[in-house]
Amino acid sequence: MLRSTAFQQTYRSETSLLLNLDTQSDLPEEGYRLTVNSQGITITARRESGIFYGLQTCMQLIPYQQNTEHITLPCVEIEDYPRFAYRGLLLDVGRHFFPVSFIKEYIDLMSQYKLNILHWHLTEDQGWRIEIKKYPKLTEIGSFREQTLIGHLRNKPQGFDGKPHGGYYTQDEVIEIVAYAASKYITIIPEIEMPGHALAALASYPELGCGDNPGSFRVSEIWGVHEDVYCAGKEQTFRFIEDVLDEVLDLFPSEYIHIGGDECPKAKWKTCPHCQTRIKKQQLIDEHELQSYFIGRIEKYLNKKGRQIIGWDEILEGGLAPNATVMSWRGTKGGIEAANQKHDVIMTPNTYLYFDYCESKSSEEPITFGKYLPLQKVYGYEPLSNELTTEQQKYVKGVQANLWTEFIKTPKKAYYMLFPRFFSLAEVAWSLPANKNWQQFLEIRLPAHLIVLDKKGLTYSVPEPIGAKDTTIYADELTVDLKVPVSGAKIFYSTNGYMPTEMDEEYTSRFTIKIPIGEERVLKSIVVTPSGRKSVVVCTTIKSTILQTTIR
Ligand code: ACM
Ligand code: ZN
Repeated sequence: MLRSTAFQQTYRSETSLLLNLDTQSDLPEEGYRLTVNSQGITITARRESGIFYGLQTCMQLIPYQQNTEHITLPCVEIEDYPRFAYRGLLLDVGRHFFPVSFIKEYIDLMSQYKLNILHWHLTEDQGWRIEIKKYPKLTEIGSFREQTLIGHLRNKPQGFDGKPHGGYYTQDEVIEIVAYAASKYITIIPEIEMPGHALAALASYPELGCGDNPGSFRVSEIWGVHEDVYCAGKEQTFRFIEDVLDEVLDLFPSEYIHIGGDECPKAKWKTCPHCQTRIKKQQLIDEHELQSYFIGRIEKYLNKKGRQIIGWDEILEGGLAPNATVMSWRGTKGGIEAANQKHDVIMTPNTYLYFDYCESKSSEEPITFGKYLPLQKVYGYEPLSNELTTEQQKYVKGVQANLWTEFIKTPKKAYYMLFPRFFSLAEVAWSLPANKNWQQFLEIRLPAHLIVLDKKGLTYSVPEPIGAKDTTIYADELTVDLKVPVSGAKIFYSTNGYMPTEMDEEYTSRFTIKIPIGEERVLKSIVVTPSGRKSVVVCTTIKSTILQTTIR
């Protein structure tokens, strides 16, 4: 929500930044009022987080070119507050480990755009990333894999990279990161995956697998879903998980603990005597109910300790634990179902908010999961489904985007996948639909955000020329009308089928290409930013007909 009045006048001031924490204020939770006028800058809020968000907005008002001696701010009157209380971003450190410095930078960026939840995916088949003092093998064994598959599991086998990969966060580092996040009004919700995605734990403590002699396991070197999961029949499994959670609770003060719950194949449980005995004793119908028993038991344990659980939408199958919050990832269905059942929901549908999907269909994109999620689709996401009544919509506590890292090994690639879709997420999470506007976002706000990334030296996926379309058009002329998505950037193009380069023609103003009947032209365009970053090439094929088309 944003109410803003901007005045023409600018002023110069050496002083006067008033931060006014007014606990009696009628401003909404986390809201703020920012006034910049000739008397100075005033930020009023009911909570410290509101003051912090007012400051972030104030920082965004500083034009980037300014030197630090004299900063000119526009005079404004802004009243602003978030649409959703939960504004999240997931970071998967299980598939690839990222250093503490990166986690802190991620937190910085989140806080500058008023996101407030970092969902830290800490355990996976491919790596266990958090020190647990009672179970040292989790990190001695579980945090390393010997090699990693190159490419997708579903594609032709492409072999392994031959390089060990690993790493974990010590408890001291976790404490440091949690405190760092808190100082920026970000809560970290840790995820400890169960009952599936547990191969790294099983490699460390094989006795937690199904059967009397589970054998040995390897920290996974491939992607996908693995059949070996925690045994739901053995008491030892629950003792282990409760011990792990005890240490996790000491490190993370968050109300919510994410317990995973997704992609847990039931094959091993079907033939395990311990699991089958549990099913009989608990009078469960099948293995789905066994999973619900598992999650319900952990929920009870955590509720007793004053915490709540969040689980992926598979926790609906076999019956929801009584107080669980559902994170809807397989589209929006699970979230709608959970809200129908009067359970809290976080919307993180893969169809709109999976930032490991590629941003364009160009073959120039780096390896990703191969599914397609363009910036505009993220921007257009509406978390409050119209399949829910107004009353049911209240269960939707917020949204989250997920950065899964199977194909992200480096901070550079992480930022490439994150940006600019991250900016769309920030608006989806914070702004009311009435205050969103795609064209303004694309042409005004996005270029300003990208300049900030350029200044910080962070990578991003350079947006294509605004107005360019990867398509075939049937027309006898084409009016080319393009805009740069980053100020100071240039557009280069070719019409001869060759890849446009900086040595080719620079686009400067609208022009029209005429195509004789029966012929075709291919317009290829590319953006090059002032820092030399390039977008993918956009290809528009025009086949001559009687229609006239303007690309806009
Ligand atoms: C998920 O993407 N398996 C939650
Ligand atoms: Zn079992």
